[in-house]
Amino acid sequence: MDWRGRVALVTGAGVRIGRAIALALAERGMRLIVHYHTSAGPAQEVVEQIISAGGQAIALRADLLDPSAPQRLIAQGIEAFGEVDVLINSASIFERGTVYDATLDHWERHLAINLRAPFFLCQAYAQALRPDQRGHIINIADWRALRPGTQYVAYTVSKAGLVALTKSLALALAPRVQVNAIAPGGILPPPSGPDAYFTHLPERLPLRRIGAPEEVVKAVNYLLDADFVTGEILLVTGGEHL
Ligand SMILES: NC(=O)c1ccc[n+]([C@@H]2O[C@H](COP(=O)([O-])OP(=O)(O)OC[C@H]3O[C@@H](n4cnc5c(N)ncnc54)[C@H](OP(=O)(O)O)[C@@H]3O)[C@@H](O)[C@H]2O)c1
Repeated sequence: MDWRGRVALVTGAGVRIGRAIALALAERGMRLIVHYHTSAGPAQEVVEQIISAGGQAIALRADLLDPSAPQRLIAQGIEAFGEVDVLINSASIFERGTVYDATLDHWERHLAINLRAPFFLCQAYAQALRPDQRGHIINIADWRALRPGTQYVAYTVSKAGLVALTKSLALALAPRVQVNAIAPGGILPPPSGPDAYFTHLPERLPLRRIGAPEEVVKAVNYLLDADFVTGEILLVTGGEHL
C-alpha cells in the first residue's frame, strides 16, 4: 500500500522511539500528528524537522491519564488533516513495582496509560474511519508481555493486555484495518541512564548487542508494507526472548 499523503498519529512522538517512528513515517511521505505530553519542545522540533524537509506535521498535547484524551486527540487530528490512517501507540510508562510494593496509584497509572488509552484511541480511530478507508494500527508492546517477570508487574500486565488487544482488534477491524504489535527488547536505556540490566545486556543476548530505535522503525516499515499480516506480535529483541 502506498502511504504517501496519508495521516499517521504517533503517541509519545516527541522523544526516543516514538520520535524515530514519527520521523521515519514522515520520510515515507506521510503527514504526521506528533503527540506529546510533557515534551513540548522536542515535539515541536520533530514538527519543524518534518516541515523543513517538505512534509506536513502538527504537534498535539494530551495527558493519556485523562480518560477523555483519546477521543479528543483523534478528533483534533481529523480536524487538522481530514483523516487518521495509521495509529501507532508508543506512549507508555515503565516503573518498577512488585507484588509486594506496587501501590493502587502505580497499578492504575500503568493500566491507564499503557492499555486503556491505546484501546480508546483505537476505538475513536475505528469509529472515525470512512467506509472506503484502509488503515493500520501498530501497538508498541514489550517482549516482557510474553515472559512473566517479577520486578515490573503492572507494566508487564499492561503490555500483555496490549498484546491481547492487538489480536482482538485484528479480528474485529479486519479486513479494512490491519492491527499488529511490535515487542521490543533492550532498545534504549531508561532516560536516567543505563542501569545494571542494560550494562550487562549485550553479553546475554544471542546477537550480542542492544538495539536502537531504528530497529523498531524497520519493524514498523515492514508491517506497513506487509499487506497479508495482521494480529502479529513482532519480536525485536536481538534474541533476548529465546
Ligand atoms: N526503551 C526500550 O528499550 C523499550 C523496550 C521495550 C519496549 N519499549 C516500548 O517502546 C515504547 C517507547 O519506549 P521509549 O523508551 O522510547 O519511551 P519513553 O522514553 O519511556 O517515553 C515515554 C513516552 O510516553 C509518553 N508518555 C508518558 N506518560 C504519558 C502520559 N501520561 N500521557 C501521554 N504521554 C505520556 C511520553 O511523552 P512526553 O515525553 O511528551 O511526556 C514519552 O513520549 C514504549 O511503549 C515502551 O514500553 C521500549
